[in-house]
Amino acid sequence: MKNCVPRIDAEACLGCGACAAVCPSGVLGFDGRKASVVAEGCIGCGHCAALCPAEAVTVSAGENWTAAFATIDAPGKVVAPGEFSPAELVDLMRSRRSCRCYTSDPVPGPMLEDLVRAAVTAPSGTNSQAWTFTVLTSRAAVMRLGEAVAGFFRRINKLAANPVVRKGYALIGRPELENYFREHYPSVAAALVKWDRDRTDLLFHGATAAIVIGSVPGASCPTEDALLAAQNMLLAGHAMGLGSCLIGYAVEAIRHDKRVRAAAGLPTGEAVHAVVALGWPDVTFLRHTFRRRPIVRYQTA
Ligand SMILES: Cc1cc2nc3c(=O)[nH]c(=O)nc-3n(C[C@H](O)[C@H](O)[C@H](O)COP(=O)(O)O)c2cc1C
Repeated sequence: MKNCVPRIDAEACLGCGACAAVCPSGVLGFDGRKASVVAEGCIGCGHCAALCPAEAVTVSAGENWTAAFATIDAPGKVVAPGEFSPAELVDLMRSRRSCRCYTSDPVPGPMLEDLVRAAVTAPSGTNSQAWTFTVLTSRAAVMRLGEAVAGFFRRINKLAANPVVRKGYALIGRPELENYFREHYPSVAAALVKWDRDRTDLLFHGATAAIVIGSVPGASCPTEDALLAAQNMLLAGHAMGLGSCLIGYAVEAIRHDKRVRAAAGLPTGEAVHAVVALGWPDVTFLRHTFRRRPIVRYQTA
């Protein structure tokens, strides 16, 4: 976050130097007696203010939007490292599953807003917080986006079904259509048939809300920021009783088609990184996630 200015109340400063030591940008200095602002470039992370035992440091980074949640009565405790139950956290992470079966009940607006609050507690590169959240609050809005995404894939499938077009693209070094034809064409074609027949929703799975996570220009790591925010949202949603599912097909369609972008309500100039389908789950999982052992390397010296 740019244009932040830390301020130090010299009278209140106890001279511990903790704020200068923790500043990631070298904006604060400590002369052995008092801390002071010695350079520009504050990113507004607020670590200095969060550490100061005398509350002598303030950072003018604007409103703290995550100070209070609308539907979650969090006591406001700062959980120190090691203070939260890792067993509970692990069970929460293992219990979150992609939900593909929802009731028709809507998700209340304040809960959707709290999901965004949970999302933005994620870290972001240089604290840029350049993410955006477009909240589709009703089944009708989700269906409208679904209709646009279906239109996009109908056009792609028509192109991909033509071997001359596929070969032509491959010849000019664009094998994407060939790959798409092999990996996605049959399942997309089948899903489109069901959508056209009776609006069976194999895209959003009947979700009654969705959140499109994008970014405005200016972030150093926009994709990483957005995906970290998305994972926070999924975990918070699970804790709040909601089901969720990332919808990669919708992301691709928004990226490539202005009509889909418009249906998602995303202004021109914003990048899209994730679409999260949301709703009340109509399914109860009885077992945890199963994961293969990944490649893990250790270097000991
Ligand atoms: C980037 C990304 C895109 C995804 N896109 C879709 C999608 O379009 N439709 C869908 O049903 N699931 C989608 N998923 C969900 C995955 O299929 C799911 O996470 C995976 O099968 C593991 O299951 P779990 O989330 O229940 O643990 C996506 C997941 C990720 C991470």
